[in-house]
Amino acid sequence: MKIAIPKATFEGEQRVSLVPETCTRIKKLGLEVLLEAGAGAGAGFPDHEYEAAGARVMADGSAMMQEADIVVMLYPPTEAEISRMRSGMTLFSILNPLIRHDVTRRLAQRGITALAMDMMPRISRAQKMDVLSSQATVAGYKAVLLAASELRKMFPLLMTAAGTLTPAKVLILGAGVAGLQAIATARRLGAVVEAFDVRPAVREQVQSLGAKFVEVESPAADAEDKGGYAKEMSEAYKQKQAEAIARHVKDADVAISTALIPGKPAPRLITSAMVATMRPGSVIIDLAAEAGGNCELTRPGERVMTDNGALVLGPRNLPSTVPYHASQMYSRNIASFLQDLVKNGQLTLSMEDECVAGTLITHGGQVVHPRIKDLMESATA
Ligand code: NAI
Repeated sequence: MKIAIPKATFEGEQRVSLVPETCTRIKKLGLEVLLEAGAGAGAGFPDHEYEAAGARVMADGSAMMQEADIVVMLYPPTEAEISRMRSGMTLFSILNPLIRHDVTRRLAQRGITALAMDMMPRISRAQKMDVLSSQATVAGYKAVLLAASELRKMFPLLMTAAGTLTPAKVLILGAGVAGLQAIATARRLGAVVEAFDVRPAVREQVQSLGAKFVEVESPAADAEDKGGYAKEMSEAYKQKQAEAIARHVKDADVAISTALIPGKPAPRLITSAMVATMRPGSVIIDLAAEAGGNCELTRPGERVMTDNGALVLGPRNLPSTVPYHASQMYSRNIASFLQDLVKNGQLTLSMEDECVAGTLITHGGQVVHPRIKDLMESATA
């Protein structure tokens, strides 16, 4: 079987879906690796490194797609990308199927067998295949660097001949994978960090990284679903939470928000009124921008300067701005999944495997994932 690495065409995308190191691993499984020429260049992996790892470089990407049995991508494919896929081939990618019904429908129509890596169940065995975690790690790290370069202050406590400088105060909202990495990065730079999450279970993780956990009166009793994700909270809880956040946002130099609820708009945590209480020069980095934003003032991909001089950034696709390591981790996630699925050079998808059942969304011209199918049917009803 042949596996293809296409060049990303999505605007600004610098990552590549498989890196040379992983090609060697995949070849050992008995697969032949095809690379669209230049696909790794943006991430820092030139064609000759792929050739040295045993991949065949092809100048014609469309011809490559016609020859391949498997294709690995990073984002929901565009119409042009879907059109050049070969009917019957298998796609591994982030597909956002809870929201992107259009893409799921087209993949089914084109007879593509699609596995949505972002639907990977959150079980211990699947940790090494979890692309949401690997990419969130990069986003959390980069968000802090972005904030540090925009802030008019330095992060650490400095005792100098010119006197003492107080450390920056950083508030992290949402202490999942991205939030925890943001805490660790801000702490490494010397900031004083506070963090908040609806899931009380993360308190210890926050504290172990040297940050203070922000308490909400009457904590959420049932904040987590069985997949480990946050649930939508009651109105009474949201009110208490808003009061707690308002108290802490006011004093923060930097607020980084990462709160997401799968398949739902991001929870609104920072209102315009809260931003109005911040000091001039303070910075908000909203990592939930593309899911509607945690901050009321966020505009995805734009810089918003408020009347009181606070800056609100809603960066898109931050993992792509650290493309070498983001690609390396994504690639390892995919290789780990393939390791379980490829036997003697053949890809076998068994619905007995929890990871296949969780991620397989289209097959044989149909949408086969029960949850996605229900969502799509109720959206068109
Ligand atoms: P996420 O990206 O869906 O959400 C980010 C964070 O925002 C979460 O911690 C969530 O609790 C929080 N949040 C949601 N609504 C909020 C609100 N209203 N206010 C404040 N915070 C709010 O979550 P992520 O980072 O992908 O991971 C969630 C959990 O899943 C973590 O505990 C993580 O360790 C676990 N996990 C388990 C894996 C496995 O076992 N294979 C793989 C990856 C993550």
